[in-house]
Amino acid sequence: MIQQIRYNKNLEWGIYMNINRLKQKQIPQHLAIILDGNGRWAKKRGLPRTAGHYQGAMNVAKIANACDQLGIKYLTVYAFSTENWKRPSDEVDYLMTMPVKEYPKYKDKVLGSNIKIKHVGRKTVLASDVLELINMLEKETNDHTGLTLQIAFDYGSFEEITQAFEKASQMGVKIQNGNDLYPFLYVTTPVDLLIRTSGELRLSNYLLWQASYAEFYFTKVHWPSFNERQLSKAIKTYQKRDRRYGGLNK
Ligand code: IPE
Ligand code: IPE
Ligand code: MG
Repeated sequence: MIQQIRYNKNLEWGIYMNINRLKQKQIPQHLAIILDGNGRWAKKRGLPRTAGHYQGAMNVAKIANACDQLGIKYLTVYAFSTENWKRPSDEVDYLMTMPVKEYPKYKDKVLGSNIKIKHVGRKTVLASDVLELINMLEKETNDHTGLTLQIAFDYGSFEEITQAFEKASQMGVKIQNGNDLYPFLYVTTPVDLLIRTSGELRLSNYLLWQASYAEFYFTKVHWPSFNERQLSKAIKTYQKRDRRYGGLNK
């Protein structure tokens, strides 16, 4: 019974998850998540893969709110990779049309929050209605001062890094060290903590440059089931890590 009450009070997770205790130690400035396992989550429940994608998208809102409350500055979520075009066309169609279709239902919540939304990734292949939604979201949330939610949609590191070098060279900028490339990347800050859900132990072409000194956290939980409790567990683990950057700590 108590468990049930706690679960239903998810919105007030701070009370149960010790948000203040987490905040006493270093909170990652930039959290990146590989949202994996939507399909497996759905399969386990006898549902179509698309149901997993829908639930996964809803979960982004939940976790973004928790990150905002925690004072995380950037949350970068991997929602569609440059490789995901290889999937069956009905699945790709669903992923490409769902945001535009579902947005009107959630508009008030999104615009009423303090979360700033930014698209990161390739813009040359996405359909015009998706690009319009992105432009609108970026414009309408631009004065929000909380978490910046970066949605990696048609994102791949190889493409990101390649276009960054190309842009730098066109502008006559010589890249001499890792930091010089950041202004030309889509994701312009290094990652502190990278979480991948659903048990796979790989990066799948995500934030290769930015994750150079990131701490990694892998969990078997499928993305739609990843909740505030798991988030706080990942952050607690991060807070115990010793980040040496090649040097020696006292
Ligand atoms: C992640 O879930 C979402 C996308 C890649 C679009 P998956 O669709 O990869 O789910 P699994 O890995 O097949 O379970
Ligand atoms: C990575 O997940 C891409 C996203 C989460 C958007 P995948 O499910 O596509 O990765 P692989 O194919 O297992 O490496
Ligand atoms: Mg997957």
